[in-house]
Amino acid sequence: MIVGIFKKSKEIMIKNQWYVVYDAKKLKKNKVVGIKRLGENLVLWRNSDNSTGCIADKCCHRGASLSQGMVKDNHIQCPFHGLEFSTDGKCVLIPANGKNTKVPDTFFQRSYVTQEKHGFIWIFWGDAKEGLPEIPFFDNIDPKLHYADIENHWNMHYTRCIENQLDVLHLPFVHRTSIGKGNKVLINGPNTIINDKGFHVFIKNELDEGQKPLKPAEMPQPLPGQQHLEFIFPNLWQNYLTEKLLIFISFTPIDEENTLLFLRMYQNITNIPLLVQLLDWIMMRYNLVILNQDKRVVLKQLPKKSDINMDERLLMADQPIIKYRQIRQQMLDEVENKG
Ligand code: FES
Ligand SMILES: [Fe+2]
Repeated sequence: MIVGIFKKSKEIMIKNQWYVVYDAKKLKKNKVVGIKRLGENLVLWRNSDNSTGCIADKCCHRGASLSQGMVKDNHIQCPFHGLEFSTDGKCVLIPANGKNTKVPDTFFQRSYVTQEKHGFIWIFWGDAKEGLPEIPFFDNIDPKLHYADIENHWNMHYTRCIENQLDVLHLPFVHRTSIGKGNKVLINGPNTIINDKGFHVFIKNELDEGQKPLKPAEMPQPLPGQQHLEFIFPNLWQNYLTEKLLIFISFTPIDEENTLLFLRMYQNITNIPLLVQLLDWIMMRYNLVILNQDKRVVLKQLPKKSDINMDERLLMADQPIIKYRQIRQQMLDEVENKG
């Protein structure tokens, strides 16, 4: 009944992919939240049996917001006239018609398959309900690894937010007082290695002492455990600092102009509770300083959305951004061609 709905919707993100939409630990049993994700108003809830549902937040009866409703018998109940919907979007009860009256098939909400994994609630943003691919994630992140986390809202299209974290040139300028100290403005490569989920980026920034930067093909072979960036399509990123410390971000699109960053700092440096707390506190404050340095510049970029063809003069060092744009475009085209 809902096949083809995406053909009419405005293109903002790559369809038929898993997206992080919420922090799983914040969605307690019987909790209902209204969220905007991927340009849609959605109601997300957790039933008492721990299952979760995510359906359109506009009731098909007379347009009330289901996120003002409550969880009842593992369904979401509309606050206006009590219609109840299951996690697959079907209306299972119309109280005014009586419990012994069959609900007409026309009573349903658009729904998304949800899954809880890696401490997040994910939705599969597409029409399909079965035969879905695995949720993509970074192989090096052990589910038991400790992390501290923050959510950070950016008033910017998600493509610009992602590209900022793939940008290896900005460090000595935007972050001159933090991670970019040392004036290493000369960018060798970088070496961008494509894999089946996305790509790795190996960086070698240096002081400019008159030498020519290395071309990507001249870059040294990456060493095991070497610091690098890794990107997984459509929107997951990590800065692998060491085996014991890494930064993760999901760039979750809210709409065409807003992005929610779910940032985590994973660490395995210590497991002494007080030291863990102290390290989390210090590092997350430092991460916020760095994010705000980025934000100051990125939020003023024009246009607000990046694209494969746009009026920009890109450099060799922008290669990760070029690869991101190319692969993103391929994925968009593939979805378009499949119809
Ligand atoms: S508007 Fe939802 S039950 Fe009437
Ligand atoms: Fe930055």
